[in-house]
Amino acid sequence: MLPTPRRYHIVTFGCQMNKADSERMAGILDGMGFEWEENPELANVVLYNTCTIRDNAEQKVYSYLGRQAKRKHQDPSLTLVVAGCVAQQEGEQLLRRVPELDLVMGPHHANRLQDLLEQVFAGDQVVATEPIHIMEDITKPRRDSAVTAWVNVIYGCNERCTYCVVPNVRGLEQSRSPEAIRAEMETLSRQGYREVTLLGQNIDAYGRDLPGSTPEGRHLHTLTDLLYFVHDVPGIDRLRFATSHPRYFTDRLIRACGELPKVCEHFHIPFQSGNNEILKAMGRGYSQERYRQIIDKVRHYIPDAAISADAIVGFPGETEAQFNDTLRLVEDIGFDQVNTAAYSPRPQTPAATWGDQLSEEVKADRLQRLNHLVNTKVAERSQRYGDRIEEILVEEVNPKNPQQVMGRTRSNRLTFFEGDIQQLQGQTIAVKIQQVRPFSLTGTAVGFTVGV
Ligand code: SAH
Ligand code: SF4
Ligand code: F3S
Repeated sequence: MLPTPRRYHIVTFGCQMNKADSERMAGILDGMGFEWEENPELANVVLYNTCTIRDNAEQKVYSYLGRQAKRKHQDPSLTLVVAGCVAQQEGEQLLRRVPELDLVMGPHHANRLQDLLEQVFAGDQVVATEPIHIMEDITKPRRDSAVTAWVNVIYGCNERCTYCVVPNVRGLEQSRSPEAIRAEMETLSRQGYREVTLLGQNIDAYGRDLPGSTPEGRHLHTLTDLLYFVHDVPGIDRLRFATSHPRYFTDRLIRACGELPKVCEHFHIPFQSGNNEILKAMGRGYSQERYRQIIDKVRHYIPDAAISADAIVGFPGETEAQFNDTLRLVEDIGFDQVNTAAYSPRPQTPAATWGDQLSEEVKADRLQRLNHLVNTKVAERSQRYGDRIEEILVEEVNPKNPQQVMGRTRSNRLTFFEGDIQQLQGQTIAVKIQQVRPFSLTGTAVGFTVGV
């Protein structure tokens, strides 16, 4: 029996993959006749789409769950769902820890939400974490934005970075076919979307699990080929992709990005550490010299490219000198943004079992020093936008000032300017930048720009 009234709330933790999955699961719930409820306390289906990349992400989920489990004792008609990466990692154990749960479902099962909920409404407690082939999805996702959309191109990750839980919880790589990706983009364009971000944990691995190779032995389907294949979808003005792995960031890809006008000048290429021994222990498969070469090459073909990255401090055995190599890399490159984290030992990962773990104090101290440097460097880098004219794709009204709209530069800087969202949403506007802050800009519209 379906509960009434049918109101759902989804809380999403973690990366863009989880955000994309949440949008699809919300679409499935809409299709089942449920309505989105802003207040989780008033919803009778509450779904947590969880992340386990670091211990603090995992612990956050348990504190949220504790509150809802209490509520369930007062209102047994409440349906509680844990989806995503904690669900996959913990499986049945989650039911022992939180017996009030109705459904535990791994990320591969997101598209099966209706089927799984029907089993729950029939009276079962359900755990769905077995590896499966991810089917093409026919539901219409409920997307957060009306202008920019995520499109999954590859699920899973076959790398084995020694600190990382993702391969355990997201499974082996599964690429979607170029035709399915293009068809989704064409639908998005008809619905009015103007920007697409192609998504994968290791997006440069796209296609290596699909059949076919060229006479030279290269895979027939690579990210570069995919960019050429989808580039002319009419109405989609901007293309982005994430996350890139330096090991697979090829010259061919860089040249394609320089050549294809819709590919935006922003690349997210995590380096994790600036020290070669640490990179080796992490199993990353490149040196800091190679990383610098990649960035040089990107800037050779796309001089103004914005570069963002991820970094980990306090990996097991990291010495002060090795940490200084990370600081040096940040000092030298001129990043537009760096997501930093203290190393967190994760279940069933090699590095978690190593003896030379650093203390929380050392990790916290290094994190603080790295963050300080990142903030200084990012603020410096931002200055280049002063007095420039940038193309802004308008997404939303500025939530802090209804007189203003907000959008992004091609290089992914958040930008605000005065205007009417009714007229401007989805338009690309030339904006003269007048105020520069470390992570955002403010300017004045100077005219419409013609789409590429
Ligand atoms: N696939 C991407 C990112 C994966 S997870 C890549 O290969 O870079 C996002 C970021 O979380 C990682 O880039 C890394 O910086 C961080 N991360 C992953 N595992 C971690 C751990 N055990 N402790 C701290 N940070 C971690
Ligand atoms: Fe994790 Fe490495 Fe895969 Fe990225 S490439 S998801 S860090 S295993
Ligand atoms: Fe977290 Fe899972 Fe993404 S562990 S970072 S939500 S793949």
